[in-house]
Order: sequence, then C-alpha cells, then structure tokens
Amino acid sequence: MADINLLSPGRIDGFDTRNRIFMAPMTRSRALAGGVPSPLAVDYYAQRASAGLIITEGVAPAAGGLGYARTPAIDTPEQVAAWKKITDAVHANGGRIFAQFMHVGRIGHAANRYVDEPLVAPSAIRAAGQMWTDASGMQDNDMPRALEIHEIPGVIAQYAQATKNALTAGFDGVELHSASGYLPMQFLSTGTNKRTDAYGGSVTNRIRFVVETLEAMAAAAGTASKIGIKISPAMPFNDCQDDDPMDTYTHLVKAISPMGLAYLHVLRTVIPTTFEVLRPLFAGPFAAGGAFTKESGDAALASGAADYIVFGKLFTSNPDLPTRFAKTAPLVSPDPATFYTPGEKGYTDFPSL
Ligand SMILES: Cc1cc2nc3c(=O)[nH]c(=O)nc-3n(C[C@H](O)[C@H](O)[C@H](O)COP(=O)(O)O)c2cc1C
Repeated sequence: MADINLLSPGRIDGFDTRNRIFMAPMTRSRALAGGVPSPLAVDYYAQRASAGLIITEGVAPAAGGLGYARTPAIDTPEQVAAWKKITDAVHANGGRIFAQFMHVGRIGHAANRYVDEPLVAPSAIRAAGQMWTDASGMQDNDMPRALEIHEIPGVIAQYAQATKNALTAGFDGVELHSASGYLPMQFLSTGTNKRTDAYGGSVTNRIRFVVETLEAMAAAAGTASKIGIKISPAMPFNDCQDDDPMDTYTHLVKAISPMGLAYLHVLRTVIPTTFEVLRPLFAGPFAAGGAFTKESGDAALASGAADYIVFGKLFTSNPDLPTRFAKTAPLVSPDPATFYTPGEKGYTDFPSL
C-alpha cells in the first residue's frame, strides 16, 4: 500500500481510473431555464477530464428535487440530451464521469423551481437559513410538507428513473447525494426526521430511505457497481442535526457495505475520526474528501486511510489539477465570488498549464 499516491492508477468495478483523484460534486448555478445544463458545462467538465473520476454538480432526479437558482435536472429528454453532450466531451478526453443525484428536500425556494409544488421532506419543519433567488435576492427557505408514507415509493422511483436516464446520457455511473442536509440526510437525521412510521424513529427506520433508494438505483442500473453514495456525518450545514451521528452512519455503512457499490464517498466535517471509524465498515472503495491538499492526500492514500481523494474547490480554479500535482506546479486560488454566478467568468476561463 505504501507506494500508492494521488497519481497511482485505480480501478472502480467496471473501469480503470487514471489516478486516485476525484473531482468533487460542485453546484455551479449556470444551468439554463427548465433545469437544462448549459452548453458552457460541456467545456467546464471536458477541461477537468484528467480527474480519475468527475462527480458532477448536484442534479435533481426530477423537477421536484430542485431548490437552488439555475441548477440542473435529469428528467426530460431535453435535459438528458444536454447531459449526453457533456459525457461525450469528457469521454473524448479520456475521462470518467458520474452524475450526482441531489434532491433538496426542504432546502429551496419556489422562485428557483419550475414546478408549482411545495418542497417535500420527512417532516414539516422549515429549515433555518436563506438562499439566493434571482428574482428577489436572499429569501428564507420555503416551508416543506411532510411526505405521506404512500408517496415515498414514488420519490424513490424518481431516483431509479433518473439512474436509467443518466446511463442513457452516457454517464459511467451515478452518486446518491446523502450529505449536506438534503433529502436523504434529512431522513437520516433525528433533527429533521420526526416520523413515527417505518421511515422514522429508530436508526433502522431512519436509514431505510437511503437503503431503499440505493437498492432501487442499483436495480435500475442492473448493477450496484455503477452506484456511489456521498455522506457527511454530523455536518450542521442546512440546519441539519442528529443526536448521535456516528451511531446513524455506523448503521448505514454496515447496511450498505454488502451491496457492492462503486464507492463510499465521505466528507469529513466536525468529527475528526470519521474516516477511521467508517472505513473498516465498508467493503468497497473508500473516497475521502474535505480540505485535502496534495500532501495530505498522498499521506492518506499511503497509509491506507482511503482509496481515493476527493478535491473540490481546487478543481474550480485548476482544471488540470492532476498535472499540477504531478509537476508540483503552483496552484491557482479558488475564487468564491464566481462559484455560483452565471457565465464563463470563474467557470471555464481558468487556464490549464
Ligand atoms: C462551489 C461549491 C459547490 C458545491 N456543491 C456541492 C454539490 O452540489 N454537491 C455536493 O455533494 N457537495 C457540494 N459541495 C461540496 C464539495 O463536494 C466538497 O465536499 C467540499 O467542497 C469539500 O472539499 P474541498 O475542501 O476539497 O473543496 C460544493 C462545494 C463548493 C465549493
């Protein structure tokens, strides 16, 4: 193990990765009206194809999962066709790309949605906090309604259909976004899940939505090996709170370990031992993320703490990040002011070496 570093080739079930570097999922808010990814995204992702695996920005499995301004979905034929151009461009550059499925649950505002439906969540509890709308600036998150138990299979079916759509669009696989306080994490967490039915209460019940969604996605793909999952235990973002996060995630990871998933992607936040606790519980590839550098990434791979390292912000401003690591070249600092602004600036105009 000691000779594994960021530039070592790897293998996810079904395909080789040219290095151990994942590009993190990052919402960039450049989509066109109607949840269609922008033509600019073709260049953006193609420029970053030297990552071992690109994970796209959060993509709503269906329109009801959208909550932020200018974010994409993968539901309509127009959306699928636009994604196909992106996967073709990444593949033409020798890259691999997974779509990240992000259903916002209770995090969103009607001004950012093109369907006239309220937000849905495990429980009808409004999230503290505000979000950007192009029409009226910062606005409080909308009040969600609680999903009826008979509606939950329909939401899971949207993830399954989106999996089929993503494979039609040429993606190498898909990642379930079960982090950052969005719908799956709202089910996992005691603060957002006050249900008294089979999807709430005990940890077995709180992990049920995520487990059933992964099973449905794997069935839709015909294999679990094209399905990854991202988690962020104890992340307080989006007003998410859990009484005992490591108990929740220990149960979840044990439950999904036998499924044969493509990988487990863990964003480390406030619990320093997150990787050490969870990695031994998961049989498949382990991707670790959160403020890694070249040095800390190489060290984590060399020690066996992870199989892949996920880089986010550094990929926004260094499209050829693996090459820069290989050459020990200087890195360009990310520009947070253009993370979510429309247009090329800060998106496709950072040069490669
Ligand atoms: C601009 C921006 C947008 C992000 N959007 C998403 C997202 O859509 N889905 C997600 O899972 N994480 C998202 N994240 C979190 C990243 O995937 C990653 O976990 C985080 O940035 C930590 O990695 P880093 O320190 O290498 O940037 C976003 C981060 C940034 C900077």
